Amino acid sequence: MNSLSPGRNLILIGMMGSGKSAVGLLLAERLGRPFADTDAMVEAQAGRSVAAIFADEGERGFRILESEAIRRVSVLRGQVVSVGGGAVEDGRNVTHLRATGDLVLLTASAAVLAARTLEGASSRAEGSTDPEQRPLLEAAGDDVGARAQVLAELWERRRPAYEAAAATSVDTGGRSANEVRDAVLAWAANVPGLLTPAEMKAQP
Ligand code: S3P
Repeated sequence: MNSLSPGRNLILIGMMGSGKSAVGLLLAERLGRPFADTDAMVEAQAGRSVAAIFADEGERGFRILESEAIRRVSVLRGQVVSVGGGAVEDGRNVTHLRATGDLVLLTASAAVLAARTLEGASSRAEGSTDPEQRPLLEAAGDDVGARAQVLAELWERRRPAYEAAAATSVDTGGRSANEVRDAVLAWAANVPGLLTPAEMKAQP
C-alpha cells in the first residue's frame, strides 16, 4: 500500500444488538472514513424498511437485496462497514467482504443482546429502527426472555459462520461503545493494510 491509497475496509459483523451500528459510527468518526450500513443501503435501494421488505418479499427477498448491497460496498476500500446479523450465513457475502476488508465479530450474551434490542430510544437515536429493521424478533414482542431465546438459537446456528469469517472478535458485554471502538482500533493498528499511516497517526 502506498501512503495515499485507502486502507482495507473495517467490517463489523455480529448478532442483532451487538453494537455494530453504534460502534461503526464511532469508528468512522475517529478514522474520518465513510460509514456504510448494509441495512440502510438495502432500505435506500428498495425505498422501504427492512420489515416492509420481509413482509412483501419474505426473508429470501431481503437476502437477495442484502447480497447486492454487500457486492456494491465491497468494490470500494477505505470504509467502515456494518452488515446485518444474518449476512454471514451466505458464504458468497463473506468472500466479497473479505476481498477488500477485514471482519471483526462483536459478541455479547443472548440476554445482553435481547436487552439492547429493546433499548428503543437510545438505539433509535443511533440509526436503528427496531422493530422496522428486526422482523426476526417481532414474534417475541417486548418479552426480553423470548427475545433472548430467539437470539440464542440464531447464534448457535450462525456461530460457525461468524467464527470462520472473522479475523478477530471483541466481547462487547459490559463495555461502552467507546471502549469497544478503542479495542477494535488497537487490534486494527496491527493488521497490515487495514489502516493508512495517516489513520494510525490519528490514534490517541
Ligand atoms: C437480521 C439483522 C438485522 C437486519 C434484518 C435481519 C438478522 O440487522 O439485517 O432484520 O438476520 O440477524 P442488524 O443485525 O443490524 O440488527
